[in-house]
Amino acid sequence: MINVAVIGASGYTGLELVKILAGHPRFELAYVATSEGGMRLTELHPAMQGIFECDVHKADAAAVAASCELAFLALPHMTAMGFVKELMALGVKVVDLSADYRLKRETYEAHYVPHIDPENLEHAVYGLPELNREAIRSARLVANPGCYPTASILGLLPFTKYIDEDFPVFIDAKSGVSGAGKKCTTSTHFVSINENIFAYKPFEHRHEPEIREKLLLDSGKDFDINFVPHLIPATRGELIDAYALLKEEIDPIAVLKAYYADEPFVRIFENPVDIKACSGTNFCDIYAKVRGKKLYVNSSVDNIVRGSSSQAVANANLMMGLEENTGIPIIAYVP
Ligand SMILES: NC(=O)c1ccc[n+]([C@@H]2O[C@H](COP(=O)([O-])OP(=O)(O)OC[C@H]3O[C@@H](n4cnc5c(N)ncnc54)[C@H](OP(=O)(O)O)[C@@H]3O)[C@@H](O)[C@H]2O)c1
Repeated sequence: MINVAVIGASGYTGLELVKILAGHPRFELAYVATSEGGMRLTELHPAMQGIFECDVHKADAAAVAASCELAFLALPHMTAMGFVKELMALGVKVVDLSADYRLKRETYEAHYVPHIDPENLEHAVYGLPELNREAIRSARLVANPGCYPTASILGLLPFTKYIDEDFPVFIDAKSGVSGAGKKCTTSTHFVSINENIFAYKPFEHRHEPEIREKLLLDSGKDFDINFVPHLIPATRGELIDAYALLKEEIDPIAVLKAYYADEPFVRIFENPVDIKACSGTNFCDIYAKVRGKKLYVNSSVDNIVRGSSSQAVANANLMMGLEENTGIPIIAYVP
C-alpha cells in the first residue's frame, strides 16, 4: 500500500477524495487534515461512519512527509502554494486541486495573485490525462484542472484543428452549487438558488484564461474564448454548451469517436448529455452537432468528481506507477 494524505478534508472536494481513497485498493489514507484538526473523521463527515475512521490533524507539512509519499491538497488557492512549497522541499509528491499551479506565471498573476513559488510552478504538469498522460507519470507536482476547464477542454480538443480561430468561441456553462465550495454566500444561499438560475462573472471568470491557455498549448491556436457560467439549483454537476465556427463541414460524432477511441473516461453520446449520467463518476460525457459550418459541443462532468477529486486520484495513480483506473468511480448516481 502507498500512504497518501488529504489536506482540506472538510471541504467538498476533500470529502470526495476521502470517499474515493477509503475504497482504493493501493492507496492508504494515512493522514487527514483541516485548518484546525482536533476531531475524528466521522465527526466531520458522518457519512463515513462504519466505513473509514481516523484522526483529523491540524495541517502540517512535516507530519505529512513523515508518513506519506503523496499528498492531495484540496485547499483554496494561495493557501495551497504555501503547502506545496514545503511539501516539495520535503520530497512529497503533490496533486494540487487549486488553481495555483495550473497556469503560466504571467497568466496566473494577471488573474489571481502574485505567485510565491515560481520554482515549482515551472515544472508542474497540468493534470488532464487525455492531454498530458505521459508527463503526469513522471511528475512530482500535478496541477489538477479546474472543473469547467475539464469539461470545456475535453469538449473542444477534438475540434481545434477544424475551428476557424478568426471567430469567437462562446462557452455557456452551468454548475451545481458545490462548485463554489462549502462556504455559504449570498448567491449560494438556499433562498437565492432554489428554483432559480443566474449567470455570474460573465467574460470575467478565472476559468476562461485556463481554457484558452491549454487549448493554445495543445493546438497552437489562440482562440477567442468567451465564457459565461451560471449557477443552477443542483448540488453537483456541470454542463457545457460551446459554440464555434468551422473552416469546413465535418461529422462531429465521427471526429469525437476517433479522437477518444482509446480513452477510458470520455464517453461519446449521439444525443445531448445531462449532468446525471456522469454524476459521481470520472466520466466526461460529450455530444456535438453541426449545422453547416456552425459547431455545437455539449459536455458534462461531475465537478467534485471528474472535475476535481477522481481526476486527482487518476493523476496520483499515474504518478505512482499504477493503472490510471485503479479505484476510480464509474457507476453514476442515477436516477
Ligand atoms: N468545488 C469544486 O467543484 C471544485 C472543483 C475543482 C477544483 N476546486 C478547487 O479545489 C479546492 C478546494 O475546493 P472545495 O470546493 O473543496 O473548497 P471548500 O469546500 O471551501 O473546502 C476548502 C478546504 O480547505 C481547508 N483549508 C483552508 N485553509 C486551510 C489551511 N490553512 N490548512 C488546512 N486546511 C485549510 C478548509 O478547512 P477548514 O474547514 O478547516 O477551514 C476546507 O476543508 C479549491 O482550490 C477549489 O478552487 C473545487
